[in-house]
Amino acid sequence: MAEVLLEVRNVNKAFGGVVTAKEVNMKVEKGEIHGLIGPNGAGKTTLLNLISGIYDVDGGQIFFKGEDVTKLPPYTRSRMGIGRTFQSPRFSPRSSIRDNLLVGTDLDNKMGYLSSFFGKKGADFDKEFEELIKIAGFTFDWDERINSLPYGQQKLLEIIRAMLSHPTVMLVDEPCAGLNMEEQNRVKDLLNKGLEQGMGIVLIEHSMEMVMSVCHNISVLNFGEIIAEGTPAEIQSNQQVIEAYLGKDEDTLAGGAHVGN
Ligand SMILES: Nc1ncnc2c1ncn2[C@@H]1O[C@H](COP(=O)(O)OP(=O)(O)OP(=O)(O)O)[C@@H](O)[C@H]1O
Ligand SMILES: [Mg+2]
Repeated sequence: MAEVLLEVRNVNKAFGGVVTAKEVNMKVEKGEIHGLIGPNGAGKTTLLNLISGIYDVDGGQIFFKGEDVTKLPPYTRSRMGIGRTFQSPRFSPRSSIRDNLLVGTDLDNKMGYLSSFFGKKGADFDKEFEELIKIAGFTFDWDERINSLPYGQQKLLEIIRAMLSHPTVMLVDEPCAGLNMEEQNRVKDLLNKGLEQGMGIVLIEHSMEMVMSVCHNISVLNFGEIIAEGTPAEIQSNQQVIEAYLGKDEDTLAGGAHVGN
C-alpha cells in the first residue's frame, strides 16, 4: 500500500444548525487522485477548508504524513505541504500575472519574496514553470493584468501556482467549472503531472466525466456525511449514491454531463 499522506478522522463541523461534516473519514495516498463529490451544499468545500485550516474542526483530527495538524494554523499547514486552489480563482485581479504567480509560489522559495521583484526566481523555477505552462497550452505576457486573461486560463494558472509551491497534498476545488473541454483536458494533464511528482490530490468536481476518468478513489458527501467510498466503478453502481446524487440526471452516468454548478 502506498504511503497515506492525508487522513481525516471522525471530523465534525456545524455552522449554527447546519451540519456540514458529520464523523467524516477520508484517506488520501501518495499517487492518488481522490475525488470528493456530492450535491451542492453537501460540505465539500467546507471539508477542504477544515483540511487546510481555514476553519477549525468541532471534533475529530486531521493528519498530514502521520502528524496531527488539527491545531495548526493554515499558513503552517501550507508550508508543510498542503496546497490548494479555490472554487473561484483567488488572485489580486488588478496586479500583473507575474506578481500574482510569484506571490503564490513563494512558500517553497528560500530566497524570500523580494527576490521575485527583481526578475526571476532562478533557472529551476523558470524551467518548471515553462513545463507546466506548456501542459496548460497557452501563452501570455507576464506584465498583463491577470484579469485580462480568459477565465479558463486563470483557473489553469491557479493550479500551476499551487503546483509551483511543491505541495505534497494538493486540494483542488472544482477546477473544471466554467471550462471548455479543451481546458478540462489541460486540467487533467496538470493533475497527472502532479501525480508524477508524487503528490496525493483531492479533487472536488461536478463534471462526472472528469471525476470518473481521473480519480482512483471517490468519497461521496451528502449533508455532511460520507455515504459511499470506492473506485469510480463502485461509486457509479452504488444505489445510495445514485439516489442522492448521480441519479438526478441519467446523462451523468453516461459521462460528460454536469450536475449542479
Ligand atoms: N463560513 C460559513 N458560515 C456559515 N455557513 C457556512 C460557511 N461555510 C459553509 N457554510 C454552509 O455549509 C454548507 C456546505 O457548504 P459547502 O460550501 O461546503 O458546500 P459544497 O459541497 O462545497 O457545495 P457546492 O457544490 O455548491 O460548492 C452550506 O449550507 C453552506 O451554506
Ligand atoms: Mg463548494
